Amino acid sequence: MEMGPESHDGVRNMLEKLSSLWNVRAAVNNDATPYSELLFEQGRLDFSESLVPFRNHPTWQAASAEMKSRCLSYGWIIYNLKTIYIECDIVTPACEDIIKRPPVESRNREILQRVMSEALLDEALHTKMSITACNYIYLNRKLPYLDFSDFNLVRWREQILSTCTAEWQRRLTRFGIACASETLITDYLKTLSEDDAIQRVCHEVTRTHAVDEWSHSSVFSFVACDIVHTLSVRERAYLHAVIAKTVEMFADNELGAWAQALPLAGFQGHEAMLLECSRSSEVEIYTESVSSLLARIGLQ
Ligand SMILES: [Fe+2]
Ligand SMILES: [Fe+2]
Repeated sequence: MEMGPESHDGVRNMLEKLSSLWNVRAAVNNDATPYSELLFEQGRLDFSESLVPFRNHPTWQAASAEMKSRCLSYGWIIYNLKTIYIECDIVTPACEDIIKRPPVESRNREILQRVMSEALLDEALHTKMSITACNYIYLNRKLPYLDFSDFNLVRWREQILSTCTAEWQRRLTRFGIACASETLITDYLKTLSEDDAIQRVCHEVTRTHAVDEWSHSSVFSFVACDIVHTLSVRERAYLHAVIAKTVEMFADNELGAWAQALPLAGFQGHEAMLLECSRSSEVEIYTESVSSLLARIGLQ
């Protein structure tokens, strides 16, 4: 009988351990950080400039410190809106799929449902944290609201789903994109969670989220191992392709959101600047993580 971490029994043991850790470590099981006690500091930036896609452009570099600060507040808002879309439109449907219909061939039905419902609770809290932190910045900076929903990652996912011709493809698409996103989100949160020069609330919210996502990355990897076991060669190839493609879409720097935010900040000359800025310049940050995910779950 197979006994490695990828076997059904190995997966069950690891998921049991992760579920025990969730009871003590997850933010949802601990007292919320009293964000109200963290003083807002006007002079601190709300977002790391190193995450701005046009940071090296001369128009950006020539902008005043005050204008850059306003734009960085929108950077924080775009970043959190994208986080909320990842939580609600990408991760939540995949958790629900497994909760409602765990893979019939798996012997780990109960633990798969349990860890997915735990992840779902975490994601609901992350959405609450993100929305609270956006409104905190809107309020303290007195900024006009950004109304944006057209994130490339979400639109691409919908396109793929609309071209699927079978339910197994739809299910593997939902799972594959969520699984890759749950690995990549740790990289996505890394810079802000480590930047203690930014507004303290922004740093704390991201740090708390990052701690939960380190666990999610393992949870989704082990759930993926269990699922991969039950797949045919054709299904495995399909899942591999979906996960590999997610890197590119996840890394998209969402210039559409910036095109809407920069005029709200009053930034002059944004059209030309965004045209000269490449679309997916950050893909290399994520490539290694997804390659090791594919190897871990037996797809490489
Ligand atoms: Fe999350
Ligand atoms: Fe997550």
